[in-house]
Parts: sequence; C-alpha cells; structure tokens
Amino acid sequence: MTLVPLPELLGDAARGAYAVGYFEAWDSYSLDAVVEAAEEERAPVILGFGCLLVDQGWLEAGGIETFAALGRAAAERARVPAALLLNEARSVEHALRGLDAGFNAAMVHGASTEDVARLVAEARAHGAAVEAELGELPTGDDAARASLTHPEEAAAYVAETGVDCLAVSVGNVHVLEGRTAEIDLDRLEAIHRAVSTPLAIHGGTSFPAKLVPDAIARGVAKFNVGTALKRAFLAGLASAGLEGDPHGLLGSRGSADVLSVGAKRMRGVVQELIRLYGASGRG
Ligand code: 13P
Repeated sequence: MTLVPLPELLGDAARGAYAVGYFEAWDSYSLDAVVEAAEEERAPVILGFGCLLVDQGWLEAGGIETFAALGRAAAERARVPAALLLNEARSVEHALRGLDAGFNAAMVHGASTEDVARLVAEARAHGAAVEAELGELPTGDDAARASLTHPEEAAAYVAETGVDCLAVSVGNVHVLEGRTAEIDLDRLEAIHRAVSTPLAIHGGTSFPAKLVPDAIARGVAKFNVGTALKRAFLAGLASAGLEGDPHGLLGSRGSADVLSVGAKRMRGVVQELIRLYGASGRG
C-alpha cells in the first residue's frame, strides 16, 4: 500500500460514517505500534509526529527530516492506507520542511490566516494537504486558554485559506487526563452546516467515547490522540523489569526489550480507539 492523500482518507471516512485516527508517535517503536494496530484492524490510519511538545532546537537541527524518513518508510510499507502528517508545526517554515522531506500533510499551529493560505499554496505544489485549527483548545485544566470555533468565522476561514481539514474547538481539551471534556455538539453541528471540509478533533484522550458517533454525524472525520498513547507506553515500560542483558533489554525488538513491552501496551489502546471510531475493516 502506498502513501494515501489525507483528503482521500478523510473523504472516504465522511462517506462511510466513520473517523480516521491520527495516533501521534514520537519514535520508531511508537510508530510501529500504530502501524501494527492499524494492520491488525485492517483500518486506514494517519501516521505522524507532533512538533508542539518536542524540543524546537532538535527539530531545527534535522529532527523534522528524521521524523519524515521514519514516517515515510512506515507508511510505504504499511498494509493499510496511510497518510503521513507533520502535526502542529510551530511555523510555516517547519511545515514546509516537513513537506519537502516526505510528509504528505502538515498542520501549522497558531499561524495567521495569511500564513496558512501561503502554506496551502505551497502544499498544492507538493501534492500535499494542510490542516489548520480555528479557535484554540485549552491545555489540561487551563480552561482560560479556550477560544471556541465560531461557525461563520470557520466558513470564512476555510474559504480564505483552502485548508483540507479544519480542527475545531468545541469544548475538546488537549492533554487532559482523569476526566472527559464537555463537548458542545450544537456548536459542532453549526460548524458542520457552515463548512463542507472534514473536521478534526484534537484532544482525543479526553474526548467522551459515548459522543464519538455524534461527532462523526456532525462532520468529524479525524480524531487526534496523544497523551493516552504515551500513558499506555509508560505503563508497559513500568511493568517491565530492568534487570538483565542490556542488549536484550534495549533495542533487541525481542520479548525482553522494554521498549517493545511499552509499544505492545500502546498498540492495544490504538486498536481500541480504531474500533471506537468505526474504522476497523475499512482499510
Ligand atoms: P491528547 O494528547 O489530548 O490526546 O491530544 C493530542 C492531540 O490533539 C495532538 O494533536
């Protein structure tokens, strides 16, 4: 299976009334866990890496290209349809570096409308897609940072920028653990009526599972998940003993490899979410 354009994955999801998960990886173990989960579920998937919580100096010094090489190889050998997203780049320049290096989709965080429109124009030349967010999600319990997406502004923003996917702020919260977010389904519905572009929900960790079908019925074709995956990976790591042969414990990719134990725990969570989003058997 080759790399698939993000709009194709999201268009199929909208027509089929399911959503595709973007399960954020941070290294080759976590990336393989996502690919294996999607293959096991025979589900389309969005692979990729996020920039927001990663040291910007590392990204600047070649990290973006390292991510692209890892992700591109994984997407191209995956036995399910996969898009490759550079998520939440802190600048248009970083997003463009990602597209140059092999990502077929990019999202830029906190950019102006003009900058997003510029990124869309450049992405078209690469045959790549762009996602952007209008409004802002709160992070964790910092509700003061929330700025909800306004339906009419969303319509104007999509028309001005030409983005392929619009991330919305409808009560969803980034990096929140221990409770679920309070989602404004009426706002989501109004946004869906105002724009025909597929919608994305960031903050998948705290999105209430029981509202997933309602969100999909209101235009959500993509869920982003991060924190729950790292939490599962860490639980796997904590369960693995650190005594023994260092070569077996680290990097062997065998059953003693503590990173593989973490990845296996994470893979289970990705599979559960793929089923929750209705994407099993769609790949
Ligand atoms: P969570 O970490 O809250 O799941 O959000 C991840 C995300 O939205 C990445 O873009």
